[in-house]
Amino acid sequence: MTQGTPGAGAVTPETPPASPGAAPADAFDLDPATMRRMGYAVVDLLVQRWATLGEQPPWRSASRAQMEARLREPVPEAGVGAGGFDALLRRTADEVLEYAGRIDHPRFVAFIPSSPTWGAVLGDMLTAGYNVFQGTWLESAGPSEIELLVIDWFKGWLGYPGEAGGLLLSGGSAANLTALVVARDSRLRGPDPAGVLYASDQVHSSVERAARILGFDPGQLRLVPCDDAFRLDPAALEAAIREDAAAGRRPFCVVANAGATSTGAIDPLPAMADICRRHGLWLHADGAYGGFAALTGRGKRWLAGIESADSITLDPHKWLFQTYEAGCLLVRDARVLARSFHVMPDYLRDTAILGSEVNFADRGFELTRTTRALKIWLSLQLFGAGAFRHAIDGALDLAADAQRRIEASSKLELLSPAALGIVCFRRRPRALDPDADALNERILQRLNHDGIAMMSSTRIRGCYALRLCIMNWRTTADDVARILDAVESDAPEE
Ligand SMILES: Cc1ncc(COP(=O)(O)O)c(C=O)c1O
Repeated sequence: MTQGTPGAGAVTPETPPASPGAAPADAFDLDPATMRRMGYAVVDLLVQRWATLGEQPPWRSASRAQMEARLREPVPEAGVGAGGFDALLRRTADEVLEYAGRIDHPRFVAFIPSSPTWGAVLGDMLTAGYNVFQGTWLESAGPSEIELLVIDWFKGWLGYPGEAGGLLLSGGSAANLTALVVARDSRLRGPDPAGVLYASDQVHSSVERAARILGFDPGQLRLVPCDDAFRLDPAALEAAIREDAAAGRRPFCVVANAGATSTGAIDPLPAMADICRRHGLWLHADGAYGGFAALTGRGKRWLAGIESADSITLDPHKWLFQTYEAGCLLVRDARVLARSFHVMPDYLRDTAILGSEVNFADRGFELTRTTRALKIWLSLQLFGAGAFRHAIDGALDLAADAQRRIEASSKLELLSPAALGIVCFRRRPRALDPDADALNERILQRLNHDGIAMMSSTRIRGCYALRLCIMNWRTTADDVARILDAVESDAPEE
């Protein structure tokens, strides 16, 4: 084959001089026995971590300066090679991964925890080992079919119709962004400075970020007040829509919380769907963390109305016990995705679809995307949906028990009731210590510092609140009791 730029004359390829100490060109070509030995060492490490997780602290952090001191070095020209792999693995575990939060720890109850099953971990290993490219059907018929199947399972759980479709994404942020693209294109037919989007003041920050990415001004995202239970007030929503429309603006989308991150509150989905229908607005339900509660009987009741939304965000890496990264967007009418995202450059014409196959790159903004469905499919095949339902139900029970215990305690005060696994509360201030915010902030720091738990805070009606988020399949009643005992007994100066 002739090298060089066509028409620019022949160019003689240069052979670069070999650099001293460089590894031979076949350095990557390990023999199977060596590969097995290295792979088994990784599995052994993962299983060891798994088996001793509850005995480890839920969290260990370090400053940037400490991490720099530990890890900063020039890129090595020659690697340690297979013979040095065990030491390298040890170093990776001790010096790097040791300082990653143990988000799957049974007493990691901060933010939104993630506790993947072993099936999900193995699915991810397979995905990496096969290095699946799942942008087009041509390159990935098997995994693409699995994604269609998994999406259909999710549709069934959420009550979506057959013509609905979707795709898997990196997480809830990517799903919310994708939803806003299709909402804008479906209702406004493209960017429009008059467009207005509505959500409650409890909406996840990813919606604000998505609006910014799409070029909306801050004023184009209208935050509607909530009721006492942190649920969007439908009357206020409708009033805002009418006011904007009367002023010549173009209301186009409402984002509903199907599990607000701070409190677990679920917006009044049927009422919001009704308002959207009457005013011709797109309804997007953000069920990133709460949506999979629909697997359980009570969750399905709480989330009733979600099936009326035009699109739904779900995060399998949250309450479907998957590894990062696994997010999902479902849309009631699958065709809208391709309308917003399909492009066909010349170099990809060979991948064009003739039949009912799906090029997942046509449904979202990623061309190169691996299979996120494989681990979900593998873990559901391995354990069955019943095991997932049972685990979610168990977490809901623990949160309800925690609420009862908080209400029964003279030292604790409930700030928001158990909702989709989240309970917010605080230690009642003592006469000696009237500043409740400072007291609770100190309690939280001590709990996290002493390795009892990793818990985070939020603000409820202006108060600093301890926020217990129970979603992990490993968390037991003893774990929750240990955390609440520690909060109750934290009174050194009493
Ligand atoms: C309700 C909600 N929406 C969106 C997100 C963002 O999801 P991700 O972190 O997967 O991007 C979160 C994350 O916690 C969430 O709770």
